[in-house]
Amino acid sequence: MLALLTCLALVAWGAAEVFNRQALAWAERDVVMRARLVASAVAPSLLHGDGKDAQRQLDAMVRDERLMGAALCLPDGRQEAASDGFPAAHGCATLPAAALQAGEPGWDRSVLGPAGALHLTALPVSDGRRAPRLLLLVHDMSYVDRRAATTRRYTFLAFALVGLLGAVAAGLVARLSWISWTTQLRKVLLSPFRSSAAKAPRRFQPLLSDVRDLVSTLAAEEARAESGWTPERLKQVLRSQLGGEAILVVANREPYIHERDPAGLGGVRVVHPASGLVTALEPVMRACSGTWLAHGSGSADFDVVDARDHVRVPPDRPTYDLRRLRLTPEEERGYYYGFSNEGLWALCHSAHTRPEFRSGDWEQYQLVNRRFAEAVAQEAGAPDPIVLVQDYHFALLPRYLRELLPRATILTFWHIPWPSAERFGICPWEREILDGLLGSSIVGFHTQAHCNNFLESVDRYLESRLDRERSSVVQGGRETLVRAYPISIDWPSRLADGTAPAAECRAAVRRELGLPEDALLGVGVDRLDYTKGIEERLLAVERLLERHPRFQGRFWFLQVAAPSRSTIEAYRALAERVEALAARINERIGRDGWRPIILARRHHEPPAIFRLYRAADLCYVSSLHDGMNLVAKEFVAARDDLRGVLVLSRFTGAARELTEALIVNPYDIDASAGALAAALDMSPAEQGERMRSMRGLVAELNVYRWAGKMLLDATRARRKERLATRLGGAPWSAS
Ligand code: G6P
Repeated sequence: MLALLTCLALVAWGAAEVFNRQALAWAERDVVMRARLVASAVAPSLLHGDGKDAQRQLDAMVRDERLMGAALCLPDGRQEAASDGFPAAHGCATLPAAALQAGEPGWDRSVLGPAGALHLTALPVSDGRRAPRLLLLVHDMSYVDRRAATTRRYTFLAFALVGLLGAVAAGLVARLSWISWTTQLRKVLLSPFRSSAAKAPRRFQPLLSDVRDLVSTLAAEEARAESGWTPERLKQVLRSQLGGEAILVVANREPYIHERDPAGLGGVRVVHPASGLVTALEPVMRACSGTWLAHGSGSADFDVVDARDHVRVPPDRPTYDLRRLRLTPEEERGYYYGFSNEGLWALCHSAHTRPEFRSGDWEQYQLVNRRFAEAVAQEAGAPDPIVLVQDYHFALLPRYLRELLPRATILTFWHIPWPSAERFGICPWEREILDGLLGSSIVGFHTQAHCNNFLESVDRYLESRLDRERSSVVQGGRETLVRAYPISIDWPSRLADGTAPAAECRAAVRRELGLPEDALLGVGVDRLDYTKGIEERLLAVERLLERHPRFQGRFWFLQVAAPSRSTIEAYRALAERVEALAARINERIGRDGWRPIILARRHHEPPAIFRLYRAADLCYVSSLHDGMNLVAKEFVAARDDLRGVLVLSRFTGAARELTEALIVNPYDIDASAGALAAALDMSPAEQGERMRSMRGLVAELNVYRWAGKMLLDATRARRKERLATRLGGAPWSAS
């Protein structure tokens, strides 16, 4: 614009200059002609009289406003007569010789006077009798300057107007052609990519090749998102994509429990709970930092917190905050034991335990969800925090939190299976649960099958719009993405470095259990939960020993069973049944001091479990229904010696990934026993091949990838929500 204005100003100035010069030339010519006319008209009478007559006539002449002075000059330059007020500076004496001697048609020149331009004309006048004289006329030409200034002003104005009109017209043309260009381009881009490239007008071809490059770059980036995940990369995603924002995690179970010393000596010990959720999420929090909000369930939990109920963890190397919430016994009974574990847990697992739904529990569940939502809002340092809501304990929290922080990015992950829509309908508050979850930006499950069940349930019980292609639900103008993110463990495991090599673990564990050095050892590691198929597992071991007597006296099965939810009747009864079953098998099959089932019904810390994995010949995971099951992945992670066989229930999410395990139906006791025998007979080479493949997969699909992919999706959802807020529309309408 500056360049254009400068050009226009220069052109206007040039045009005015040319015009003014021309106007001056014309004016000078007019003046000379006028002077000649005057001279020829007055000559006879001017020379006829005496000096006074001449003076009078000259005075009469200068009444003309343009004529400033008139004088009669003698050929030698003396002045014979002059009008009154004749400008002395330009009198006869100042005339050059050329003027004095000029014959027809006379002499003229422009000069600059004090008040502007003057034009001098000297014309010979004669009456034929006396000697010729010169009539000197001085014309005032300042009006030419005034006209020139006016002309210049109007010329500038005219050019400015033309420039303005030109700019408006050019802008309009540019806008219209931009609209038509973008419309055509959109048409080309929105039609299927390949065919559009062929049919697209030539002018779009270079652009289309750029778009193609961009698409392949994005695809490469997408592919990169699939692999190479480490804690550093996760941190980097947080920094680059989410501005390094601190993450808030809400999970019922805390990663570290402070317990008073049972000996009553006033000491406090830290317990790592048996929870797949904690196993997965804790390394993520170590990498990301932020705050984990949980129920403070340990007897010394509130002895170690600060005034805001915060404590820095992990205790040995603090990197993030744990915020503990106190629950009253009534709240814990209704929300945790009642609605969460007797209701939703039983509902979501097809393990033949009847779900119990009581309205009193439901009230406590709502209340505690609201309390946690308020605590999250307190902890949030911004109006749009990133909140990772974990598991079935907090189905209502996303909606409550959305009411408190409408701009929050809420990622809810459901760690257990989602049942079929029909089964889900057993829950008397099915609508409220679904609506609560749809307060999330993203709802995640381990498998696509669980996502599909969830979408079916929404379809059946809620008024909402399902977008099956995007796998999302739109409700009240807000979109919730429903995605599968198979959970995993950290890789390489933090425990690997601190644990002795497999051969040492093998020898040490056998020694501690009082087994011979060459004993074959199988392990099972679970919470004492009816979904884990512990009874079916022990029955399969019994069948193995019956069917394959060669293993009698040589094979032991160690079942680690961490006590869990033991105030619930179904769990208490299970513990009794498992205890009785182990005793019965040992009684029936055991002999000469050989008792094949070793039941360890107590809590084991993670390093102890890791040693057991390294010591075992096989690990049997026999869940009757399980979202993922991380025991299977932990066993694989522990076996850097490439030995050991994983026997895995097909009803776990892990069975979809760890296909080199021996996959079994745990209900089929004979087939499971056959798999256990095959595991014990498997050659070291085959064990190595299977283990190498599974280790590669767990290394690749580790928990940093799980968190990273969720956070990347959250970033996109967040950008979209922010854009929609700026555009003033619903988030989904911005896509
Ligand atoms: C499952 C659930 C977790 C829970 C864990 C242990 O893995 O998905 O949310 O933490 O069991 O159960 P608990 O009731 O002891 O926390």
